Amino acid sequence: MINYILIAHLLGATIWTGGHLILSLVVLPKALKTEQLAGLMAFEEQFEKIGMPALILQIITGLWMVYRLFPEVSLWFGFDNDLSTLITLKITLLALTVLVALHARFRVIPTLSAARLGFFALHIVAVTLLSVSFVIVGSLFRTGLS
Ligand code: HEM
Repeated sequence: MINYILIAHLLGATIWTGGHLILSLVVLPKALKTEQLAGLMAFEEQFEKIGMPALILQIITGLWMVYRLFPEVSLWFGFDNDLSTLITLKITLLALTVLVALHARFRVIPTLSAARLGFFALHIVAVTLLSVSFVIVGSLFRTGLS
């Protein structure tokens, strides 16, 4: 049977992780080299419109799939079996992503200048590494950890 929830989850993943890889590997190096913020801010502004809905879609479809795999919510958190470990890892990645993204959005971006670009770049690279980790941890649900 076609798994519409998984398809939506994978489409959201391509947007969230793909967008951040383009940001980190193409847009950010150019901004760091030229010390110009305009291109980076324009990309951020455009990407936010599709990136945030994609992240929300990931959370909804992800929790939906977790519930389908493991309806006992009280057993989601822990490291005593592969499924709980992977769910705990996904939710930890989510919490870290939200913290870094909120810090960037409300603390760093409002006072951003060319001089503080390096600090903003750290946030971008951190969210990108977290987004790739989401994909790696996601792939382990099918294979298991061993
Ligand atoms: C931006 C965030 C996320 C990305 C990029 C992402 C990416 C992925 C990818 C690539 C897979 C592999 C699917 C497969 O093997 O067929 C996956 C699977 C999965 N993800 Fe996520 N994910 C994200 C967030 C979440 C969240 C927040 C949860 C819930 C806590 C979650 C729960 C799951 C589950 C349960 C699977 C296994 C589905 C299955 O194999 O049937 N994901 N994810």
